[in-house]
Amino acid sequence: MPAYAIIGGQWGDEGKGKVVDLLSEKADIVARFNGGNNAGHTVINSMGNFKFHLIPVGILRQNCIALIGNGVVVNPDAFAAEIATLHESDVDTSNLIISEKAHLIMPYHIKLDELEERRRSEIGEAIGTTGMGIGPVYMDKTSRIGLRMIDLLDKNTLFHKLEVVLKQKNDVISKLYGGDPIDLGYSYERCLVWAEELADYIKPIEPVLHEALSSGKKIMLEGAQGAMLDLDHGTYPYVTSSNTVTGSIFAGTGCSPDTVNYILGIVKSYTTRVGKGPFPTELKDEVGKKIGDKGKEFGTVTNRSRRCGWFDAVLAKQAIIISGITGLALTKIDVLDEFEEINICVKYELDGKKIDYFPSSLRDQYNVKPVYKKFEGWKQTTTGIKKKEKLPKNARKYISFIESFCGVKISSISTSPKREDTILLENPFK
Ligand code: GDP
Ligand code: IMO
Ligand code: MG
Repeated sequence: MPAYAIIGGQWGDEGKGKVVDLLSEKADIVARFNGGNNAGHTVINSMGNFKFHLIPVGILRQNCIALIGNGVVVNPDAFAAEIATLHESDVDTSNLIISEKAHLIMPYHIKLDELEERRRSEIGEAIGTTGMGIGPVYMDKTSRIGLRMIDLLDKNTLFHKLEVVLKQKNDVISKLYGGDPIDLGYSYERCLVWAEELADYIKPIEPVLHEALSSGKKIMLEGAQGAMLDLDHGTYPYVTSSNTVTGSIFAGTGCSPDTVNYILGIVKSYTTRVGKGPFPTELKDEVGKKIGDKGKEFGTVTNRSRRCGWFDAVLAKQAIIISGITGLALTKIDVLDEFEEINICVKYELDGKKIDYFPSSLRDQYNVKPVYKKFEGWKQTTTGIKKKEKLPKNARKYISFIESFCGVKISSISTSPKREDTILLENPFK
């Protein structure tokens, strides 16, 4: 039952896109199972430079099926734009499937995301969302008033469903937020256009996945976001609105837990986050700025500067436990090449006591002070090194410490954004 998962181990943007691209060579299916176009997965290889938001990175591999699972929320305009960009690079998209059960991001979700963020920012409580309508669409899913892909294909009921939900949304938009209501006719017309554009892609995914699993085909599950943005396990409420941990795969695709053989956690050699919320190892000084500059830490979706800080091994360990991570892919080691001294957080201090876990209360998450273990920098370039033994001694010490502290094997070390600049110690996806 060979399914393999790629899971973000921090606050997203760990380099999942690069890792999926590298390891999907032998994949028969690459599937997304959570999130929407709040994700931005960068791939740089001989075919070009790509930023994926909704479409699984495996689309770049010939004969690989790219599957958008039911747990994903789909903005049809963003989807169409991504398809158009891929076609410009001559990428074949005929092997793409969207689950008929995936929920639709509607214009009112985007509007409500913006209005709610504005309301929260007036009281100093903004989340710093990507503005893609993610919170509102998952709210509708759990409130059981969402529209799904399959609804686009049933014109007899679509208008009625839209009419009912839009009435409720427009009440909220106008009465709660004082915003302009959204026109029913306009929304229906958009749906008809989307139905036309998307019809060929919308299918049941379960038979495809189950047939593939039972015939020994290889499935890669491409996670979006990261453990600390998980709706349950992250820095709530400064999280996204879906589950991002391994557990999300099963509800988000219909694969059962016993199908997943290997869970690869992706972690950066330091830590970043976009948007607001606690971040114990954040560096608001020149060092943080240097990491951001060297690592080109700008959001792939919103172009906001990412906040930067040292590697937080306590958080990484927590992510490993929650997601049952089997091995780690360590990315962006090259970004630390020029530092005299590098730190790793190994404990926190909270109210005068040392603790070795990340607390659940937001107040405590803001108040923990990192306790660092210091490492001497290597002051040498690592980009393009192909063997671990060839890495500078101090870089090896740094990497070995992460491995032993986290208690799982590091299976690859990435030394630049390019596919080929990776030291592959073990290919979990044989
Ligand atoms: P994802 O959301 O996890 O797929 O990550 P993003 O694509 O949003 O952000 C990761 C950024 O780091 C992208 O710009 C990648 O091209 C870049 N990147 C990935 N691996 C490396 C690496 O090893 N070194 C450097 N310098 N950049 C990397
Ligand atoms: P990938 O897959 C980094 C963050 C947003 C914000 C919070 C909530 O590229 O790693 P949302 O729009 O989801 O309601 O925003 O979550 N966020 C991400 N940060 N990488 C991502 O995805 C993210 N997806 C959402 O910045 O703080
Ligand atoms: Mg990203």
